[in-house]
Amino acid sequence: MKEKAKKIRFLSILILLAAVIVLLVFVITKSKKPLTLAEEEPTKKLILGFSQIGSESAWRTRNTQSIFDAAAENDIQIIIHDAQQKQENQLKAIRSFIVYQVDVIAFVPIVEDGWENVLTEAKEAGIPVIVVDRQINADPSLYAGFLGENGVEEGRRAARFLQNKCRDKTDTVTIFEISGTENSSIVKDRARGFREIIDTDPKFQIIHTENGDFLRSRGKEICDVLLANNVRENGNTTNTLYYNGQKIDVVFSHNDSMTLGFLDSLESHKVTAKGTIFISIDAEQESIDALKSGKLNCVVECNPNLGPTLMELVKQIAEGKPIPFMTFNEETVFTENDDFSLYEPRGY
Ligand code: AHR
Repeated sequence: MKEKAKKIRFLSILILLAAVIVLLVFVITKSKKPLTLAEEEPTKKLILGFSQIGSESAWRTRNTQSIFDAAAENDIQIIIHDAQQKQENQLKAIRSFIVYQVDVIAFVPIVEDGWENVLTEAKEAGIPVIVVDRQINADPSLYAGFLGENGVEEGRRAARFLQNKCRDKTDTVTIFEISGTENSSIVKDRARGFREIIDTDPKFQIIHTENGDFLRSRGKEICDVLLANNVRENGNTTNTLYYNGQKIDVVFSHNDSMTLGFLDSLESHKVTAKGTIFISIDAEQESIDALKSGKLNCVVECNPNLGPTLMELVKQIAEGKPIPFMTFNEETVFTENDDFSLYEPRGY
């Protein structure tokens, strides 16, 4: 009898223990927070559609690379389209980004006008747009913001160098200007900033402006023609450059590619043009080297490394945060008066 009671007690303890374990398991699973959708699914990558204008210069190649690298570093999926210098290709690319429903669109506008329709379409599709490098002429409500250089200030910087360099001159200072892509904001802005400063002194005179499309080949061609006319008009091609019989004191070129092409031509014709002042914009390594060797007098920096800041802006937009409407790059000026030993390699 005693044995039977013992067995019953033992069984009851077992049953009680089992009940406690079941209860504990139930309480623990119930107290666990349910998974959110984001926790259940692997996080979706942001998709950026980027329309680049082409690869007209080493600056542009660096600009594309910077954006590409920064997208990878930030785990952002990027769809890059090369417009081959045509606005119609950019319009098509932006429309394809809208159809694809990317999260954000960024583009470098080759020219200033003609973007309102496509930006309205992006806005209606709920896709925010960031304008990169060059500016546009459009209703500001159609895009989230701009990231790039201050072209007006770049032009001013080039002119301030010239103003200072020629401060003791009383004679006329003649300027031959080589500009880039027609109707681009960057050319207009640089030209405006440059004139804003030189127009304060009547001794500075722009005797000619030639469009070199930001291309090295065009810079060379422009100088070849000048030198050919130089022989015709002045019978020599040794030191002095002329335009329509007028001596050129300054060559102001809107980018390094055109400047370097101009120097290529001088070199191949064995012309030193020592008395001419050369001012360029961009600050590629090759033009910094030309500055060091005395072939250039001043190079205004235009910073192509826009990738990291662009990705920050893309992430902010995706998080629903506002972005500044204008974000300008930090830029400097390199001149013949600098201590070259302090220069860091440019990387492009
Ligand atoms: O828009 C920036 C300009 O375009 C750079 O100065 C030039 O090199 C580039 O092609």
